[in-house]
Amino acid sequence: MRYASRTGNAASVATDCLVVPRRTARETGTAMGVAEQVELALNGTKGRAGGVARVFLKDRPSRLLMVGADDKDADDATKLADFQRDAKAAANAVAGLDVADATLCIDDFDAGSADAYWKTRTMLAAVSHAAYRFTPYKSSKPKAATLRRLGVLSRQRAKTRRAVGHAQALDDGLGLAKDLGNQPPNVCHPTFLARAARALSRGAANVTTTVLDEKKMAELGMGAFLSVTRGSATPGKMIIVNYKGGNRGDNPVVLVGKGITFDTGGINIKSSAGMDEMKWDMCGAASVLGAMKAAIAAELPINLIVVAAAAENMPGSRASRPSDIVTTMSGQTVEIMNTDAEGRLVLCDALTYVKRFKPAAVVDIATLTGAQVVALGTHASALYANDDALADALASAGDGAGDRMWRMPLWDDYQGALDSAFADMKNVGGGRAAGSIVAACFLSRFAKDFPWAHLDIAGSAYVSGKGSTGRPLPALFDYLVNAAS
Ligand code: BES
Ligand code: MN
Ligand code: ZN
Repeated sequence: MRYASRTGNAASVATDCLVVPRRTARETGTAMGVAEQVELALNGTKGRAGGVARVFLKDRPSRLLMVGADDKDADDATKLADFQRDAKAAANAVAGLDVADATLCIDDFDAGSADAYWKTRTMLAAVSHAAYRFTPYKSSKPKAATLRRLGVLSRQRAKTRRAVGHAQALDDGLGLAKDLGNQPPNVCHPTFLARAARALSRGAANVTTTVLDEKKMAELGMGAFLSVTRGSATPGKMIIVNYKGGNRGDNPVVLVGKGITFDTGGINIKSSAGMDEMKWDMCGAASVLGAMKAAIAAELPINLIVVAAAAENMPGSRASRPSDIVTTMSGQTVEIMNTDAEGRLVLCDALTYVKRFKPAAVVDIATLTGAQVVALGTHASALYANDDALADALASAGDGAGDRMWRMPLWDDYQGALDSAFADMKNVGGGRAAGSIVAACFLSRFAKDFPWAHLDIAGSAYVSGKGSTGRPLPALFDYLVNAAS
């Protein structure tokens, strides 16, 4: 769906469907000369946050949707929350429309202190979510959405235009991230991810894609990464996409994604219940490729590098054994006490690798632990950082985008769980206690040379039986937008 910013008058804009707040619907109706129909619809329904009253008209626009509650006094937080419910309701209504063009009249929605930029972003994010479908493997395709153009009408021209551009770019990125996540693991293997990454740089002069194969990774000494992919017949890939949108010499932001295209657990094999969910174990990689797509589409004035550490974790005669010891690219040795703690093994070598880019900040994103789901459920990603400014920037971007994260401790007290009798560290420790934190502690040992944050997205990245959420891309994108300005 294409978004556009529009100016002018709600009553005279050329569109098939006009979406207005209920609180000013009478004025709109009068200006359009349909006051009676509007009055009837308003009287027949009760205003509430997240409610939609519909009027069917003879001429264009043929639909008038009146969204939300009647005018009321409320504090700022309530107004923001109610606006978010209105945005969802408007988005669902619009995504189900049987017309080609609709216009959202944003200005008269009361979102308290929020400005037109945020209102537009929030509305269009809701539309992006409501309109997404994944249907390549359905023989009978569900009817495609009829709506093709969605305009946002506002007097705040500059802010709306900027918001529409960002929303469109994010929608493009989210489409890629969700599609990659939803692809089955027999299709979406490391080579498939590498192809998707190459597509990002095709025809873009300031974007380059580099793919390290296993031979190259062996030369670099990535013993931890290679230990994970050993059991698989499909070779692992370290995929790097480099976007130079900023000034030459500006240190890049680096995003690193866990790209386990299927996680059986390896020799420490998982139980069969729910193993199908492990096709989503590459959602970190999908989100960083999506972030790259969005950054390119928005032409963000920053330097951005994304790395997808892509491998399949399988058992087999060549697979790693519990108690194997490997040497990481950093030189530190790891005793693999559990082959199912593979994400940290591919990520640690990726973190060492990205040092060469002299990053301004590194954020890794991973469906890393079941313990994160126990701790935070689906509502928040777990955030860890060795840098407060970076943590705050990510968390506030997540708050604004409705894609929240919650900061967790990285205290030294937890590090001892990783002590090994035979190597520099084990890859697991502490049993069932603080599993997400211990995993973050492991990664922190490979991220000492730059401001670093880690997002454990095991609970937020997908909804079992339904599909990828694209999270935490909305937060990452806004973090990048803010970093660029
Ligand atoms: N990919 C899993 C984590 C996961 C679990 C993601 C559930 C999404 C939903 C990860 O590789 C894993 O297996 N982690 C282990 C770590 C353990 C062996 C220390 C876990 O969480 O059980
Ligand atoms: Mn695992
Ligand atoms: Zn995993």
